[in-house]
Amino acid sequence: AECLNFAMVFSVPNYACQRRTTLENHNAVLTDALSLLAENAELEDEDGRGVAFRRAAAVLKALPKPVTSLTQLRGLPCLGEHSLRVIQDVLETGSSSEAESTKQSERFKALKVLTGIFGVGPKTAAWWIRHGINTLHQLRASGHTLNRAQQAGLEHYDGVNRPVTKAEADAIGEIVETAVTSVLPGAQVTLTGGFRRGKLTGHDVDFLITHPEEGREEGLMPKVVSWLESQGFLLYQKTTRNSYLESKDGPARPASNMDRFERCFSIFKLDACGRQPALSQADEEPKPWRAVRVDLVVSPISQFAFALLGWTGSKLFERELRRWAGYEKTMSLSSHALYDNKQSRYLKATSEEEIFAHLGLEYVPPSERNA
Ligand code: CTP
Ligand code: MN
Ligand code: MN
Ligand code: MN
Repeated sequence: AECLNFAMVFSVPNYACQRRTTLENHNAVLTDALSLLAENAELEDEDGRGVAFRRAAAVLKALPKPVTSLTQLRGLPCLGEHSLRVIQDVLETGSSSEAESTKQSERFKALKVLTGIFGVGPKTAAWWIRHGINTLHQLRASGHTLNRAQQAGLEHYDGVNRPVTKAEADAIGEIVETAVTSVLPGAQVTLTGGFRRGKLTGHDVDFLITHPEEGREEGLMPKVVSWLESQGFLLYQKTTRNSYLESKDGPARPASNMDRFERCFSIFKLDACGRQPALSQADEEPKPWRAVRVDLVVSPISQFAFALLGWTGSKLFERELRRWAGYEKTMSLSSHALYDNKQSRYLKATSEEEIFAHLGLEYVPPSERNA
């Protein structure tokens, strides 16, 4: 047994993509507090502050042991004054007073409830709150006009906000697989997002679809969606066609972090088949099915590795990969391509391993990208 009279001092590299972050977290109380403050900042539409808290939480997630004193954190990256104050509060009192009071504030609760509606972001939620709407009941009674996504989001609120299990994700995976291979034999479906990182639950299920012959994937999404619709699997869907070739900003430099693949944001109707049907509101009959958010993306095989890396997450890990590429390597990484700004050329890759190698990073498998 070790006997140390002084606390262990931790060392963590600067970028989350240089670290291996598993789901095992030795500092959950600290990272929960910081994540809540990050969520609050994002709900207040202050993304810069949100990222700062997310980065601080990610550093603590990467530590091999629980933090017991602030001095152990000396020299660690991404821990700003505010985050350190939160950490100190937790270490001294067992919880963060700021996180606790935020969690209990009416504004936080209202923002969370309203943005829980699929299709509602922080700006819309804030606007509703300014107009006296703080709850779903008030929203329904207000007669405010909702777009199609928001109508579906409100209608399927309970389902969309209930965590999706791995078993449910696998069941959806089989449906998507059947749909895709029915309309295009030889096409391939890959589970991405949190479930590919080994998470046991998720807020949705993400899939990437491709075909080994370049070009065969063109126009695939509308066919998949028609098939799913004809079988009654879709409660809602919005398909966006591929806008990659017509984009003026260039493949590796999209105007936003949003990629330009053919995509479909949907709400699936998943039969309870054998599982316990979800109990909804007490006055309702238990439904024999549940609503599940599903994201489908189609990529040509030539961009598949980039799309896979870009859609596996975590969101912070992705952000850090792009930051590393830009600041440390003078490269531009997107879910479509990697561009070397010094050599003025695209760097091809057919696997995630190759992309990490191009970036001068040690390969990090999906299960260790949980930053
Ligand atoms: N993503 C993206 N473009 C979007 C939405 C998501 O590139 N418009 C990427 C995210 O960067 C992330 C991945 O898709 O890498 C999955 O996103 P999301 O489903 O939101 O998060 P998960 O990590 O899967 O977590 P959860 O379990 O909550 O779904
Ligand atoms: Mn450990
Ligand atoms: Mn997801
Ligand atoms: Mn998603």
